[in-house]
Amino acid sequence: MLDRADTPRRKLVEVRGLKMYFPVTAGVLRRKVGDVKALDDISFDIYEGETLGLVGESGCGKSTCGRVILRLYDPTAGSIRIDGVDIGAADAQTLRPLRPAMQMVFQDPQASLNPRMTVAGIIGEPLDEHTQMSKAEKLDRIYELMDAVGLNRNFANRYPHEFSGGQRQRIGIARALALNPKFIVCDEPIAALDVSIQAQVVNLLEDLQDRLGLTYLFISHDLSMVRHIADRVAVMYLGRIAELAPRDALYDRPMHPYTQALLSAVPEPDPEIETARKRIILTGDVPSPANPPKGCNFCTRCPRVMDICQSVKPALREIEPGRFVACHLYETTAAAGSTGAPEDHERNQQGATQ
Ligand SMILES: Nc1ncnc2c1ncn2[C@@H]1O[C@H](COP(=O)(O)OP(=O)(O)OP(=O)(O)O)[C@@H](O)[C@H]1O
Ligand SMILES: [Mg+2]
Repeated sequence: MLDRADTPRRKLVEVRGLKMYFPVTAGVLRRKVGDVKALDDISFDIYEGETLGLVGESGCGKSTCGRVILRLYDPTAGSIRIDGVDIGAADAQTLRPLRPAMQMVFQDPQASLNPRMTVAGIIGEPLDEHTQMSKAEKLDRIYELMDAVGLNRNFANRYPHEFSGGQRQRIGIARALALNPKFIVCDEPIAALDVSIQAQVVNLLEDLQDRLGLTYLFISHDLSMVRHIADRVAVMYLGRIAELAPRDALYDRPMHPYTQALLSAVPEPDPEIETARKRIILTGDVPSPANPPKGCNFCTRCPRVMDICQSVKPALREIEPGRFVACHLYETTAAAGSTGAPEDHERNQQGATQ
């Protein structure tokens, strides 16, 4: 986690107007009948050395967001700049030399590690693919990585099934670090682990971030863990960003009705606060991303819904320095000059990321 006192403000990741639509097909001819709008026009930045938390209910598009940014999917629209290089439309050949700088740690280390490869083979695989290291150099690097993630070097020739979940995740982290990445997408990296192990893995990720200057997109639906690890937090709902703010501002004073509802469900360790506070129970189901509402995506479940919400999608606007909310309740407090007109949308989205 970066030291807020001397916050570096260099943007490492810049996402603008990103859309990822998955085609929905039907019939034996697999005719396209629509799109699942997994990401529908999202823009944000991640600063070098920070952890941006990405939260939201299951299916809101968190994993898709992480995968598109790493160009594991081809985006439908929008741009992605990593360290100043636009990779949004880059082809496989252009992407290849850029891949080492951006890596992913997956949710389920069991499923993401090849069961037929040894630890050394798994950690060394990216080195084979992207470097010309000799065998000896490679083994040195593998040992160095095993040390970095707290794995005993004697385990190098063992197979994934011989390890506990936490140790397997350490292998996955070592593999992600092999090529000295700058940016790592951690997609629910602790969700499959025992609670007792979760803190160890999170501490390891934080420690590595400090030592190696890493930048994280930390995807999770564990809001307490995100509060612990993130510098800023983006809240997603049905393929769009509802709110993006510095961590303490978001948790202490959530502004979007969806963020308010989401946070009201987080257990509070202080019993006095726990009894005093109001839990907001949302009614209704999340609409299908293949058929989102015409207006605000949250309008079908929002306790504070207004007429305008049914017909106009609110843009993500900066309503306080560094704090962005996509909600008609705050239109009048939005940045001066915002009229809500379509031509303002792009400007606001740009502003949302300054
Ligand atoms: N490869 C794919 N093909 C078609 N639809 C997909 C694909 N991947 C994701 N989707 C759809 O996109 C939407 C967003 O999915 P995504 O996996 O990004 O959500 P998520 O927020 O990561 O959810 P979870 O918390 O359950 O991991 C869902 O409706 C999902 O069904
Ligand atoms: Mg996911």
